Amino acid sequence: MLEKINNLLLEVEQLTVNTKDQVEEYRIKWLSKKGQITTLFDDFKGLAPELKRDVGQKLNELKNKAQEKINLLKEKFESSSDENSSNDLDLTLPGDANVNVGSRHPLSIIQNQIIDIFARIGFTVSEGREIEDDWHNFTALNTPENHPARDMQDTFYVSLNPEMVLRTQTSSVQVHIMEHQKPPIRTISPGRVYRNEAISARAHCQFHQVEGLYIDAKVSFADLKQTLLYFAQEMFGKETKIRLRPSYFPFTEPSAEMDINCTLCKGKGCNVCKYTGWVEILGCGMVDPQVLDNCKIDSHKFKGFAFGMGIERIAMLKYQVKDLRLFFENDVRFLKQFTSS
Ligand code: DAH
Repeated sequence: MLEKINNLLLEVEQLTVNTKDQVEEYRIKWLSKKGQITTLFDDFKGLAPELKRDVGQKLNELKNKAQEKINLLKEKFESSSDENSSNDLDLTLPGDANVNVGSRHPLSIIQNQIIDIFARIGFTVSEGREIEDDWHNFTALNTPENHPARDMQDTFYVSLNPEMVLRTQTSSVQVHIMEHQKPPIRTISPGRVYRNEAISARAHCQFHQVEGLYIDAKVSFADLKQTLLYFAQEMFGKETKIRLRPSYFPFTEPSAEMDINCTLCKGKGCNVCKYTGWVEILGCGMVDPQVLDNCKIDSHKFKGFAFGMGIERIAMLKYQVKDLRLFFENDVRFLKQFTSS
């Protein structure tokens, strides 16, 4: 038995290992319940009493040395692995790349672009309310009750109070602004509007518009035309042409609809422009003097122009989206294709 102990002592003293796992292997080999040293303690019980003193001493020495060696090696690996990890830590490395980052909604991207374009020529942004009274949505805009022009827009009325509607157009914001601000006024009003329409690829019961309003002592139709040309070229490219067609809106006189040349087929004819080479993008006109007076702005001193466009329409043309419903379904496969610059 002494020989076994001496051999093990030698093994303990000479032990070198390369990994932390090997240290654990030796701990198990020597000191675990069935380890070689533990087993020697069991054998020790059966020794003749006269041998017990010497062997016992040696055995204890072996156990202590083995334990010390294991502890020492363990510590060595633990501290060196700490050192390694702090040396290897590169704080400049990019983080885990598997984080899903959201993107802006295409309608927000287009709306922000429109705001930027008009901000560059001095237009501020004003916001109105989505639940509007009849006066601001219709009557002040020259559309009193029973006026046939109300049929142009199918309206959602608030059932508890039929005086209130979900606004059908952002033109209602014009009225608030003119009631509360003095000219010169130069502002655009983006926002959501509602109409009681059957949902299809080309129509929805909710959509977004941007209204524009400019009021000052001298404002002409030429100013309107130049402002809209600037907008069209900033939005769709420097080569873009515009065309104004006479139209009717109750709150502008004269009124017009504006087309741009079809950017998809470059005028050759396609189904987006219905083979005309032109696509309509907005309505506009000179603010009717009666509307100015309704809003307590002296129509003898001031003139103004106004315009209104659908954000979905602009987004569909810019991104070649064929179905309006996609903007409201929130399918990430659709949404993640759009990036803001
Ligand atoms: N509010 C009109 C609509 O929803 C759009 C519009 C046309 C606004 C002409 C205007 C305008 O300010 O002058 O169809």
